Amino acid sequence: MIRRAWYAAKSWFSQTWVDIKESTDAGLLGGARFLGLLYGPIDRRLRIDEALRKMLGYRLDPHVGWRQMFGGITYVLFMILVVTGVLMALYYRPSVQEAYPSTQHIVSNVSFGWLIRDLHVWSASLIVVAVLAHMARVLLEAAYKPPRETNWTIGLLLLGVILAFGATGYLLPWDQWAYWTVTEVLVAISGFPLVGGLIADTLMGDVIVSGATLSRFFSIHVIVLPWVSLALLSYHFTLVRRRGIAPPVHVEEQSVGRRRRGAPNPQQHQSADDGSQQGVRFFPTHLLRSLSVTVLVLAIAVTLAVLYPRPFGPPANPLVVPHELVSTWVPVDVSLALLRYLGIWGFIVFTLLGVSLVLLPLFDRGPERRIRKRPVVAVLGLLFFGGFVVLWLVGRGIGSLPPSEGIGQEARQERVVPGERAAPLPRVGPARPAVPSDSAAGERGNTP
Ligand code: HEM
Repeated sequence: MIRRAWYAAKSWFSQTWVDIKESTDAGLLGGARFLGLLYGPIDRRLRIDEALRKMLGYRLDPHVGWRQMFGGITYVLFMILVVTGVLMALYYRPSVQEAYPSTQHIVSNVSFGWLIRDLHVWSASLIVVAVLAHMARVLLEAAYKPPRETNWTIGLLLLGVILAFGATGYLLPWDQWAYWTVTEVLVAISGFPLVGGLIADTLMGDVIVSGATLSRFFSIHVIVLPWVSLALLSYHFTLVRRRGIAPPVHVEEQSVGRRRRGAPNPQQHQSADDGSQQGVRFFPTHLLRSLSVTVLVLAIAVTLAVLYPRPFGPPANPLVVPHELVSTWVPVDVSLALLRYLGIWGFIVFTLLGVSLVLLPLFDRGPERRIRKRPVVAVLGLLFFGGFVVLWLVGRGIGSLPPSEGIGQEARQERVVPGERAAPLPRVGPARPAVPSDSAAGERGNTP
């Protein structure tokens, strides 16, 4: 089917090219030919044609298929985030006075600003779901075992980077929900044994979340993390190329049997350059698969962005604790559910469970890859992935929450201008509907 679609597209393109040539002014074609003349010397130096031919002739391992799509989906969402983030950075202003109005300006006045912004917000949640699905697939198929253990570690660092991107971006709209959610999570982080206080103070840069925090979060979000992720992603993909994709368990078992009988192993990782005729062709088979997944992901993200725009709370005010915190990012649902129902130790233990996955390849080095034969890993995986899904559903079910009792109390007292009193902190109570209580609330939609 893919082959037929490819031939149809090819003949359509060549016919279109002939039509363009026939109907285009000769002078214009002269310009194109001149560019073609320039291309010759450039290609002789950079060997672009040769690299392109090599790429098109590349074959992936025969077992590579749709199971591996989550890594690709994560990458597509990452690229959507980069593009939409760069576009928003053209208008966003990272200061206490301008952050909120500039975000409103993007959504209300800039052409398609609302779509770009909500695509960014939704992709930030979808990428967390996609990367966890990718990680669960790797865990289930034991693809973290040697020789791929380094890539597992790099992957976990990438997960940390994705979460850091979301956490730092969360503050940028500078509304009450962002302000007080970040305050609450920073208070939780400061409860981590040994390093918690230092990390929270360094991120905050002040005694409360303030302009200093906004500057730090912004520079981490747009300068530090993009470079770190570029380095980690390049290394991740290089290792995928070098080690090949791990074959599924049943395929590996067959090839072990074949090796024992001394027969050649057709499932061995084929290098791109060995001229082998086995495996999945990168072009057009794999490329068309990737393109169809990309279109699907883009369609889902656009649909969600159009139907459920991220609402705005009132502008951030360190002296007024809002009556509710409306969560707009999946890990915030998870964090708030942990903090409310299991307390700060629940938050700490769950985070440490995630971090401890780095050690998995050190302890689980045996050849066994079937999940039934790896009960400890199965329990760990279930606790982490199952726990994440349950906490997410619980967090979403709550809808909107008042901030925890005591959040920011001390710091706010220090900041109270003489003659003004800090607003009394609300008690932790049942959920309330998410309706922005301020006239400065966003001009578009409300809670999804
Ligand atoms: C920005 C985040 C990430 C991106 C864009 C990404 C992308 C990819 C892609 C495209 C592949 C090859 C296809 C596949 O196996 O799905 C891959 C493989 C792999 N990834 Fe990731 N990944 C990310 C995060 C992670 C995380 C969080 C982990 C685990 C902690 C991880 C561990 C691995 C491993 C071990 C492989 C080799 C799998 C195999 O050989 O079957 N990656 N990644």
